[in-house]
Amino acid sequence: MAPFLVRFLPLLLLLLPAALREYYLPAASNRRAQDAVVADGDKLRHPIVLVPGVSCSELEARLTDAYRPSTPRCGAMKGKGWFGLWQNGSDLPAHDYVPCFMEQMRLVYDPDANEFRNIPGVETRVPNFGSTVFQRNPEHTDWCLEDLKRELERVGYRDGETLFGAAYDLRHAPPIPGQPSRVYSRYFRQLTALVEDASTKQQGRKNVILFGHSFGGMVALEFARAAPAAWREKYIKHLVLVAPLPASGFMESLKNFVSGSDLLYVPTTTPLSLRPMWRTFESAIATFPSPSVFGDDTPLVITPRRNYTARDMADLLADVVGAGGDGVVEPFRRRELPKARYFAPPMVPVTCVNGVGSVTPEQLVYSDGDFDVEPEVVFGDGDGTINLISMLAFDEEMRRKPGQRKQYKSIKVRGARHGNILTEEWSLNLVIQEILEASRV
Ligand SMILES: *[C@@H]1O[C@H](CO)[C@@H](O)[C@H](O)[C@H]1NC(C)=O
Ligand SMILES: *[C@@H]1O[C@H](CO)[C@@H](O)[C@H](O)[C@H]1NC(C)=O
Repeated sequence: MAPFLVRFLPLLLLLLPAALREYYLPAASNRRAQDAVVADGDKLRHPIVLVPGVSCSELEARLTDAYRPSTPRCGAMKGKGWFGLWQNGSDLPAHDYVPCFMEQMRLVYDPDANEFRNIPGVETRVPNFGSTVFQRNPEHTDWCLEDLKRELERVGYRDGETLFGAAYDLRHAPPIPGQPSRVYSRYFRQLTALVEDASTKQQGRKNVILFGHSFGGMVALEFARAAPAAWREKYIKHLVLVAPLPASGFMESLKNFVSGSDLLYVPTTTPLSLRPMWRTFESAIATFPSPSVFGDDTPLVITPRRNYTARDMADLLADVVGAGGDGVVEPFRRRELPKARYFAPPMVPVTCVNGVGSVTPEQLVYSDGDFDVEPEVVFGDGDGTINLISMLAFDEEMRRKPGQRKQYKSIKVRGARHGNILTEEWSLNLVIQEILEASRV
């Protein structure tokens, strides 16, 4: 343990007073521990349900008579049943379908219902629920938990028997209690049934480890928080969150909204060209920096005309999209802002693993005030995507309630980045070790 701690020491002293309570496991013991579990066999095995990152879930669409395509090309699939709208990004330019993809993926905010919906005539569904076959990005074939699945199979997990997946509609963000969401009501019902099935299928019934990565970490957490206490106790063994998106937000999310995101891989497109579609997603506005964590006197976005602090996010939205922020500012205020003030702990054992020590956007400077030009970025600490300050706020939140504190374990992994924490062998091993530990406790 000692040499391992030495590497962490400067970080512990400078940044993480709370981290002294945290646990670090020497990577060398991973294989031994895994092999011990293999030897122990089914006796120890709790089923695992994987909730992947944002770009990993596929989406199918069906176009009905009510659909008014902007061009004849976009109407080509009308009346022809379900087809893969977000399934193979390379297919979209190959079929000259990118503008139609952008049109049919769009969400619109309905102020009467306080909900996001598809545009008229577009019906959507998420295929493969329950399966661990996720969307693949040909540029990053290991992004959607491929390596994690392989390692879990190596220690004896079996797809469809002890290993399951819970894809979701990437455009919507999980609601907190009291917020309407037809999409998530349905998803949480499906996930409840999946967890129950996975559990009762095992000999002697075994409760389930729910695993969430990045956006999927936020989804898994909200699911656990929304579940009735008795159900959670019966069915959830452990919540393992790897680089979960924090409700208190992070700057990269803001940058993605303002300047465009490359999270959805579609050849021939740019973040800027996909931006009009991205900006209609609820997921695009769900994790902006919150004033309680990012403060209300530090400018986060700097332009010649005006600086914006975390308290000015609604104004920034309005200035960025124009037209008074129609369709964006209202849902941001009514649906997203309350999430940063919602602190209910999930009240199940939680292990949260985050990378730290990588340069992470902390301030965006648009020096000529043009939001279409990539900003100059001022960097701080984090996992390259999520700011350290937000990770620490989440830790604090989890430890605030005595009932959660004693079943909350937080691990900061120096040098692990948001994008590769589950693909670099050393950090992946650490995560596997944590999953096995969770199933033993
Ligand atoms: C995805 O689409 C491209 C272009 O149409 C095609 O070449 C490729 O085989 C497809 N991949 C899969 C997995 O279907
Ligand atoms: C914005 O913030 C920068 C850096 O803190 C400061 O130099 C500048 O004067 C501010 N601009 C405005 C318009 O307040």
